[in-house]
Amino acid sequence: MTKSCIFDPENLLNLIHKKAYETPFYLYDSHLLQAILKAAIKAKEAVFGAYGHIHYAMKANHNKAILQMIQSYDLGVDCVSGGEIKCAIDAGFAGNQVVFAGVGKTDLEICDALKAGIFAFNCESLQEAEVIDQFAREMNVKAQICFRVNPDINVNTHHYISTGSYDNKFGIAFEDVYQWLNTRYKHTSHIQFIGCHYHIGSQIIDMTSFSKLTESILAHYKQLTGNGFEIKHINVGGGLGINYSDPFAQQIVDFKTYFNAFAPLSNLQGVNIHFELGRSLVGQIGVLISKVLFTKKTAGSHFAILDAGMTELMRPALYQAEHKIIALNPLAASKFEKYTLAGPICESSDIFAKNLLLPEIQRGNFIAIYSVGAYGKVLSSEYNLRPKVKEFLL
Ligand code: LLP
Repeated sequence: MTKSCIFDPENLLNLIHKKAYETPFYLYDSHLLQAILKAAIKAKEAVFGAYGHIHYAMKANHNKAILQMIQSYDLGVDCVSGGEIKCAIDAGFAGNQVVFAGVGKTDLEICDALKAGIFAFNCESLQEAEVIDQFAREMNVKAQICFRVNPDINVNTHHYISTGSYDNKFGIAFEDVYQWLNTRYKHTSHIQFIGCHYHIGSQIIDMTSFSKLTESILAHYKQLTGNGFEIKHINVGGGLGINYSDPFAQQIVDFKTYFNAFAPLSNLQGVNIHFELGRSLVGQIGVLISKVLFTKKTAGSHFAILDAGMTELMRPALYQAEHKIIALNPLAASKFEKYTLAGPICESSDIFAKNLLLPEIQRGNFIAIYSVGAYGKVLSSEYNLRPKVKEFLL
């Protein structure tokens, strides 16, 4: 990490004093976001040229300024609710830049998406495709659909964010998609099947999972095209992980290796390959700043109670996620102690880290929790009637 980076602890502390924002709050680094976007686009272009398309998975962070910046780089957007589609369009994305996934789309969401003229629905059940056909017929429009195929690939990530194996609720087995296409598809009139969608999970750092996915995709492609189906689009989903333990070592992930894992797909003539990256684009651009309210010792632990809790950052409580945490002041303390960093929420799971070695801290000190640009603010809640956590983009 260079000194110019706003996340350098010293710079961060100066900034906090200068801006005097009330804690807790999220800070985002727009320069870093732009550098990440450029790196991702460059790496994608190198492997796929004009046939590669990135749709930002806005579930990771729907801050308007961030969305606008991403849109200005001409990325598409992956939405999972009517609310997200509306928010994307408000931020400047065109309807035809939107792909719409989700296992449970409501009738209203489907109709609104049809009205917005989205690029494609990623259907997660066969029934959903038939319902879309029915609504599209009533509205006299034609909808492009992909089927989300569950390739039954187990990935090495937290079990709550693994999505591509048969025990997950996501997607449809390829055989079922294939059978439906050969039997029921001809009875539809207002949907056009354009290809398959996949998403095997999130925070994946082992590239062999993506290589396995690529093999499955190629087999499915071969079977479909061999049987007369025209496949113009393949959406491989998202899932690329980031370095939580040492974010400064790798603020920009290795997009080159990631896109190379899918390189065999670039040989498919005339096929557009879509990627739905979320965490890898915005994860490292955010830091959560909190203040120590109290310290206290119990027989078992030395607690530092923060003014941020699981209501501001849910990931540690929900996925036992470990984020890099730095006590910003005093910076040059000579005495170190082990602290359990807890939030103020009435839940025993409201803990950010256990027995973390930190320079001695006291009431009023600032704490920085890193790598929270993705799935941070968006997972916040009003539990305990907490106020909405603020966000600032620098
Ligand atoms: N596409 C689909 C269909 C998805 O479900 C997801 C994420 C993505 C793309 C983007 O995945 P990414 O590139 O961000 O890994 N709240 C959890 C993560 C949930 C991910 C949900 N789906 C966390 O904090 O780790």
